[in-house]
Amino acid sequence: MAKPGIKIGTGYDVHKLVTGRKLIIGGVDIKFDRGLDGHSDADVLIHAVCDAILGALGCGDIGEHFPDTDPEFKGISSMILLEKCGALMRKNGYEVVNMDCIVMAQVPKISPHKKKIQENIARGLNMDSSLVNIKATTTEKLGFIGKEEGIAAQCSLLIKDVRSKNII
Ligand code: CDP
Ligand code: ZN
Repeated sequence: MAKPGIKIGTGYDVHKLVTGRKLIIGGVDIKFDRGLDGHSDADVLIHAVCDAILGALGCGDIGEHFPDTDPEFKGISSMILLEKCGALMRKNGYEVVNMDCIVMAQVPKISPHKKKIQENIARGLNMDSSLVNIKATTTEKLGFIGKEEGIAAQCSLLIKDVRSKNII
């Protein structure tokens, strides 16, 4: 059976909002009175993008590649993890067609940072920033996001086999 020329990936992540931590989303250090808790810099959006890439490749998830029990990844910038996922993707002969991301946060406002986030992700993956879309939504004060207990992010993307002429 012919291998598909394009493959879909999806990623979802949640981190807890706590005091005394920086808030890093999409590689941007956002000025806020709380931050996301985690072993790395807890960049919830970049983790979702990494998971979407790994998923599209059929390579499991971020926890398998970068275990939170490994001291090597303590406090690490998630942008480095994104670059590693991008390198794995290219090694497998794929590139991203496009991606669409959602940051789910009651606070703070993400829109002022969208352009920088878009550029960071595009740079991390050596792709054109016009192919990276960033959205944000509150959950209308409902649930753990709405109660400001945590922030979630989701990413959907397509990757294509750079040598294949097959669509599917
Ligand atoms: O229902 P809808 O998503 O339109 O409303 P909302 O959640 O109140 O979001 C309104 C606008 O605020 C959206 O266009 C988002 O891009 C933006 N937003 C934001 O910049 N930062 C957030 N944490 C949540 C929403
Ligand atoms: Zn995470």
